[in-house]
Amino acid sequence: MSIPAVVFNQVGKSYPQYHHITGGIKNFVFHLPSVLRAVRDSRYVALQDINFSVKQGECLGLIGRNGAGKSTSLGLIAGVLKPTVGQVTVSLRVSPLLELGAGFNPDLTGRENIFLNGVLLGMTRLEVARKVDEIIAFADLGDFIEQPIRVYSSGMVARLGFSVVSGLDPELLLIDEILAVGDMRFQEKCMAKMMGFKQQGVTMILVSHSMGDILKICDRVIWIENHLVKMVGEPRQVVESYLANV
Ligand SMILES: Nc1ncnc2c1ncn2[C@@H]1O[C@H](COP(=O)(O)OP(=O)(O)OP(=O)(O)O)[C@@H](O)[C@H]1O
Ligand SMILES: [Mg+2]
Repeated sequence: MSIPAVVFNQVGKSYPQYHHITGGIKNFVFHLPSVLRAVRDSRYVALQDINFSVKQGECLGLIGRNGAGKSTSLGLIAGVLKPTVGQVTVSLRVSPLLELGAGFNPDLTGRENIFLNGVLLGMTRLEVARKVDEIIAFADLGDFIEQPIRVYSSGMVARLGFSVVSGLDPELLLIDEILAVGDMRFQEKCMAKMMGFKQQGVTMILVSHSMGDILKICDRVIWIENHLVKMVGEPRQVVESYLANV
């Protein structure tokens, strides 16, 4: 039996909470130590006691309402966030496609950003050079590939992002809702590519509000509700319970 691709062991994540100065500025100044203590100690809990693992070759879906903690979970797997408590263990090389444009430099061209991302993913320049034409063809951005990213529309950034992570031999692909901003044809191309990865045994974790996409591709689904795992299981069952609840 191979080791799991990802393990969450009693993971919690909290963020510092922002405060209004209530009770007026005078009260704030006179009670400064206690006010500062309250500010320092109050944290917003985004994830609480999360336990799950992802098998190698599995395609896992993460669903839940806005603010449930899905992107936070992906950020923990990608290593861009650290858990406040518990451990996140990842045994594969992660190719994250998180927020729009994360990992891109706005002043570099599309082509230059492909190289930048390849290096960030741990590849050599030569390895990226072998793949670059295929990536550019998949992104299908025409002459814009030689333009700086800052002139791209959000859909164009998403096209380049998906083309890069999918074109550089992913082991563990993380996709956060990014497909939603691509046009219909591109969404279909992405889905076809992900189906191909599934057949090749690439491990994938997909966050989406499109239950159709989740049902089409996922082997298992986790529903996060109020920062806790509400349900884990067979996609149809979990999606039905979620839809009945929202
Ligand atoms: N950097 C941060 N600082 C403070 N709070 C944060 C931060 N990032 C996320 N949060 C909070 O953590 C909670 C979980 O956020 P997260 O982005 O993981 O939700 P999500 O499930 O991805 O939602 P959506 O479906 O809207 O993308 C939210 O309440 C959010 O406000
Ligand atoms: Mg999110």
